[in-house]
Amino acid sequence: MRFDVVTLFPNMFDDFPEWGVTGRAVECDQVQLNTWNPRDFSADRFGRVDDRPYGGGPGMVMRYQPLADAIDAVKAESSKTAKVIYFSPQGRCLNQLMIEQLAQEDQLILLAGRYEGVDERLIEDYVDEEVSIGDYVLSGGEFAAFVMIDAVIRLLPGVLGNEESAQQDSFSDGLLDCPHYTRPEHINQKAVPEVLLSGHHDNIKRWRFQQMKSRTKARRPELFEQYLLSQAEINN
Ligand code: ADE
Repeated sequence: MRFDVVTLFPNMFDDFPEWGVTGRAVECDQVQLNTWNPRDFSADRFGRVDDRPYGGGPGMVMRYQPLADAIDAVKAESSKTAKVIYFSPQGRCLNQLMIEQLAQEDQLILLAGRYEGVDERLIEDYVDEEVSIGDYVLSGGEFAAFVMIDAVIRLLPGVLGNEESAQQDSFSDGLLDCPHYTRPEHINQKAVPEVLLSGHHDNIKRWRFQQMKSRTKARRPELFEQYLLSQAEINN
């Protein structure tokens, strides 16, 4: 799989190959991670990539031309069909189902905006999906790109050591994860739940599933409602 990030700060991605299992996938060339700086594509003699917004107001807007030319250059270099994603708070909120679908793609072109955003016509002409990572405002889309790249890479075959790990994730079945414990057995008078020491695999499985449900119900009631609805559909 291939990621091409269009960013004014390509150096932010230099250390990605050093970060854990997802970094290793890049390091081992299972995943290609490229960066493209729109400044290198600016036709403006000063290399400008932004300009003042029509209608006035604070901040600057990223110009159409350097971004369009950068995306065209990515597409010209690769024979794969690429999906173009633009990160902004106005986008569809990212979730695990979207990540699972994106992990099926051959190539993702990730457009990381800065300033007040990008010229709307660029989004209309080039972007397949506008994506937000939450209801808060970042200084740039690069942080959202990191989030997406990491979540997608860990789903690719062979990236996680244990093939089952991704299937046991939070959200993979619409529930939050259960609590986990490791040695020692006692810390500050807190003991590991007994069932986990029992060696009884069915009971452990049942306990974990109960924990997943009760946690989801307590912490994310809207997610739990959805889970109940999907279960009702499966059973019908
Ligand atoms: N850019 C700025 N804020 C963002 C957000 N919440 N999600 C994605 N991209 C962003």
